[in-house]
Amino acid sequence: MPPAFHTPLCDMLGVRYPIIQTGMGWVATPELVAAVCNAGAFGFLAAATLVPEEVEQHIERVKALTDRPFGVNYLMDAPGAEVIAQAIIRNGVKAAGYNRSPNAEQIRAFKQAGVLCVPTCGAVRHAAKAEQLGADIIVVQGGEGGGHTGSVPTSLLVSGAVDAVSVPVVAAGGFSDGRGLVAALAYGAVGIAMGTRFLMTRESPVPKTTTQRYLDAQVTDVLVTQQVDGLPQRVVRNELVDQLETSGRLALLVRALRSGLAYRKASGASVRELLTSALSLRRNERLTRSQMLMAANAPMLARKAMVEGDPVAGYLPSGSVAGVIGDLPSCAELIERIAAEAEATLKSLTLGSEPAS
Ligand SMILES: Cc1cc2nc3c(=O)[nH]c(=O)nc-3n(C[C@H](O)[C@H](O)[C@H](O)COP(=O)(O)O)c2cc1C
Repeated sequence: MPPAFHTPLCDMLGVRYPIIQTGMGWVATPELVAAVCNAGAFGFLAAATLVPEEVEQHIERVKALTDRPFGVNYLMDAPGAEVIAQAIIRNGVKAAGYNRSPNAEQIRAFKQAGVLCVPTCGAVRHAAKAEQLGADIIVVQGGEGGGHTGSVPTSLLVSGAVDAVSVPVVAAGGFSDGRGLVAALAYGAVGIAMGTRFLMTRESPVPKTTTQRYLDAQVTDVLVTQQVDGLPQRVVRNELVDQLETSGRLALLVRALRSGLAYRKASGASVRELLTSALSLRRNERLTRSQMLMAANAPMLARKAMVEGDPVAGYLPSGSVAGVIGDLPSCAELIERIAAEAEATLKSLTLGSEPAS
């Protein structure tokens, strides 16, 4: 790639392309991460939906599939977070990704061990706070982004964050191609991070029935709902979301309790650990009691769609960008294509030649 694309991110993460595949629960498996890393970008393994004690095995699986550097994304305030942090350090993982409720102690341990701290933030003030807490690179995700998301559009958030912090900023939320990469660099970012685009690749583990919903979605079908877990989440509209949007409080409470029980079984966490984590979530994120109760809905309902292949009863976290994606390339094809498009776009800007389509 032209030197313009060899940004500080490439040197910090040890990759060829300034492209990150973000952590996505149930989706960013060792196979997807390794495919991304082998293609010259940087992948984050999703640990938030794994049993903490099993994260180490998944890290080892990534290592068996690639000798390139990779990261692990997890929730610093969930039950077993310290177990995951220790597995990251013990295995010499290059970077730790996290977002809500950053934990100063875990960040300190990463810094001592030389693990890069890469939080994702949805607002400029959160990026400034993340820098104070020790972030080495900050991913800022605009409102177009998939899953839990803020309300600031990517176009406004990226330059605001670049101006507000002194560490490198990576742009996320709505990226899928080389034109986006050039735009992000023009805003002052050092690269792009993509979730939905990598979910829609051949190496993604998402079952066909669910993937088809992403392929069929138009931009206007991807909306923000607070009814999954009480926090704004961008999702592909489906039967479940329509139902949740019109459910009464009692039905929502029953669903939340069912998810809580399923989460307890799946995570192996004790009731005490779950309560401690829920209370810390409530305190740090200033959640209402009902938001706190609904917290387990997200992983459990996502599992239905992402693992069990049921896009009717499960929910489909997604960036708006799903509405403009219509193919399932391999990760290598995708990354090469983005690199070629970015190069052509840059050429067209500097030489006035035909823009990349
Ligand atoms: C299916 C899906 C699952 C996600 N799960 C997580 C997660 O477990 N942890 C996390 O920090 N972010 C999660 N996210 C957010 C992504 O990591 C990323 O920030 C976002 O997808 C970027 O926007 P884009 O989809 O427009 O590329 C998820 C997003 C999607 C689409």
